[in-house]
Amino acid sequence: MRIFIGSDHAGFALKEHVKSYLERSGHDVVDVGTHSDESVDYPDYALAVARAVASGEADLGVLVCGTGLGMEIAANKVRGVRAVQVMDPELAVMARKHNDANVLTLAGRHTDPQTAERIVDAFVSTAFEGGRHERRVGKIAAIEQQYRPGSADRKES
Ligand code: RB5
Repeated sequence: MRIFIGSDHAGFALKEHVKSYLERSGHDVVDVGTHSDESVDYPDYALAVARAVASGEADLGVLVCGTGLGMEIAANKVRGVRAVQVMDPELAVMARKHNDANVLTLAGRHTDPQTAERIVDAFVSTAFEGGRHERRVGKIAAIEQQYRPGSADRKES
């Protein structure tokens, strides 16, 4: 699987750990940075990973900041991205099965490396169930079409 990964300074250490874990598990990992614990702005890295996922260049994305929350919010601004902040493996399974989540965000300051490995494993190895969930995910895509960036107005169809 081709996986784009990124972090800010607060997620750097966990990102490095997850990156090497994914590589050892046989995945093709593209690291968009950051490459040190010097302070940076998380939306820059969220955008790089989210773009790759939305364009199809990446199969899935992983983002790490202090809480995973800023990365989640920023990545979800990119059309086609369904980013989820996950703290336990069972929710990673559900996010894939029911929500077809395509970007996982992790909390570098609140998730230990072993738990992160289990979360990432669950996320990359679980498939979307489709069926009734396909219709619901389709409705999320319809919302993206109706509410265009830069406009709060509903586009009538
Ligand atoms: C950086 O201090 C921190 O705000 C950031 O990593 C992230 O947790 C934001 O959501």
